[in-house]
Amino acid sequence: MKPGILVARAIFPDVLRKLSEHFEVESNQQDDIFSQEQLIAHLRGKQGALITMSAHINEHVLAAVPGLRMVANMAVGYDNIDIAACNRFQVLASNTPDVLNETTADFGWALMMATARRITEAEHWLRAGKWTKWRYDSFIGPDLHGSTLGIIGMGRIGQAIARRATGFNMQVLYHNRSRLAPELELAANHAQFVSKEQLLRESDHVILVLPYSAATHHTIAAAELALMKPTATLTNVARGGIVDDQALIQALRNKTIAAAGLDVFENEPALHPDFLGLTNVVLTPHIASASEKTRRAMANCAADNLIAGLSGQRPPNLLTSYPVRA
Ligand code: GLV
Ligand code: GLV
Repeated sequence: MKPGILVARAIFPDVLRKLSEHFEVESNQQDDIFSQEQLIAHLRGKQGALITMSAHINEHVLAAVPGLRMVANMAVGYDNIDIAACNRFQVLASNTPDVLNETTADFGWALMMATARRITEAEHWLRAGKWTKWRYDSFIGPDLHGSTLGIIGMGRIGQAIARRATGFNMQVLYHNRSRLAPELELAANHAQFVSKEQLLRESDHVILVLPYSAATHHTIAAAELALMKPTATLTNVARGGIVDDQALIQALRNKTIAAAGLDVFENEPALHPDFLGLTNVVLTPHIASASEKTRRAMANCAADNLIAGLSGQRPPNLLTSYPVRA
């Protein structure tokens, strides 16, 4: 008999068909977000799961489903999975790195540009029939070209964002846990490694692309926002929790910074309601990887990891230790 798996959120039908060649698949094609207890109930009797970040795999879940052998996350970030607990329970976990780097970098730029040039705010105004009220200073914002871009988190996505700055003639500053090798700095538009404080003080546009963990919780809070230029923008395409949402709302209200572009939030899919009352913030629902090609690549990558892991091979994008029990 084929091993049973759970596909915890809706997914491309052809990826489901591929999984069905290897597994008995229970698929949540109606796409409800499971509560912790619903997730446990659906995982019972399953050996594997293809999940997204709305499924939290922790000690409680792992203890409740002892038959589980692998979870494949359809995301590069895996803060929804307790890796140490997976190792203790000898459950494999994988993610989907690399396939989304360029698409996420494109979106980071799109959001940063929409934020600086106030595109969504202007569109709302236009749709509301206000164009006759145009003035010389309507929707003016800071330039991107020729400005200083500050990238916090200089992994593969951060470097892809930096490369795109060449065409905008921008100076690139970055802050990262460790300094990049000189040839990588060169390829990243001659990016210059600086402290977080220097980056915040000197950048015209700050973009966040670092993974979320206890160590990066509230990397940007009130003290950091206070260091930024009042004309600066802040864009987050990384994870909620890296920014203190309450402090950011305060900074946007007080014009401590000019504007923010946010694809991720502290309690998503719930949003701090005060964001909705602000005009100097561009809000998107965690869509940085959402190109047709990349979402398909992510789904296939997660499926291929699961197929490998449950057939006794090392998953290509393994996050946990290996091998585990037979
Ligand atoms: C997104 O992938 C989610 O499951 O919330
Ligand atoms: C999306 O947020 C991802 O981590 O892939």
